[in-house]
Amino acid sequence: DTPIRVGLLGAGTVGSQTARLLVEQKDELAQRIGRPIELSGVACLDPDEVDFPWIDKSLLTSDTMSVVRGADIVVELIGGTGVARTFVLAALEQGSSVVTANKALLAKYGAELYKAAADHDADIYFEAAVGGAIPIVRPLRESLVGDQVESMLGIVNGTTNYILDEMTTKGLDFDVVLREAQAKGYAEADPTGDIEGHDAANKAAIMATLAYHTNVTIDDVTVEGITHIEAADIAAATAEGKVIKLLAVVDRNDSGVSARVYPALIRQEHPLASVHESFNAIFLKAKYADDLMFYGRGAGGAPTASAVVGDIVTVARHIAAHTTGPQISTYNDLPIAPLSSE
Ligand code: HSE
Repeated sequence: DTPIRVGLLGAGTVGSQTARLLVEQKDELAQRIGRPIELSGVACLDPDEVDFPWIDKSLLTSDTMSVVRGADIVVELIGGTGVARTFVLAALEQGSSVVTANKALLAKYGAELYKAAADHDADIYFEAAVGGAIPIVRPLRESLVGDQVESMLGIVNGTTNYILDEMTTKGLDFDVVLREAQAKGYAEADPTGDIEGHDAANKAAIMATLAYHTNVTIDDVTVEGITHIEAADIAAATAEGKVIKLLAVVDRNDSGVSARVYPALIRQEHPLASVHESFNAIFLKAKYADDLMFYGRGAGGAPTASAVVGDIVTVARHIAAHTTGPQISTYNDLPIAPLSSE
């Protein structure tokens, strides 16, 4: 059998681990797929700077389009809404399937990309874009497609959960914890997107799109971050038997769909109150399934790569079977972002 060719765009934290999982599990994955799978190219900014024992040096190139052209499955781990969009569209338009972890890209251009996939009989899979290793995209897209999602409350940003958790358990100030988180590598050097809530807002837009079969973009999400939370706010919450969590809240009422991100007070008895450190969790209410909770690691190289490789195997199985997975439907014309009645 001819191998299914996987082209990797990006060799950073997640990209390098994705390559490792593909190479180290090559034989087993081939058995699971029913066809061999091979890493056909790895695009990166500077091939001389990339050095992992499991990545064959000859696969590295700065010519990203050559990796796109040579792949049956294009794995986009570049990030951002600029060149990533160009390469993902090019991949879909040539009929290749795409796996991406890029929440900002999907929250902005999702509808365009889902349509391009459907128009070219290609797959676009993105389990890692929301909640890292936590399976939440596939459940929304497949398992719960026969139900009615009523609401989702998500802790979908690890950096802010770590900061709020340390403030709560140690009584420290925001600035002190942020510096400590940066020193330990939990928070990025520029944590603006995390602490201002924009990262969680991208994930909220994707969750709402999948839950309500309608096109919710980053511009539809109202956002409030955690930079103004003080030790005194945490102490007041504790005194009331509550904790403060940055939540992505997605729900639907009679007037339409709403998606918002804000620091919320949660009762200590609520399952989301016991999500500590940089873990993520999504609490979902569905009309028939009732309450569901998804919990796990929302970031990090290996956990995120686990979700990416799960998507690669799924898409490879579709290619082996000459089919595609369910397309992302955005058929509802529900009004977006009315104020919730809560
Ligand atoms: N910066 C993100 C977080 C990474 O802290 O959760 C995962 O999207």
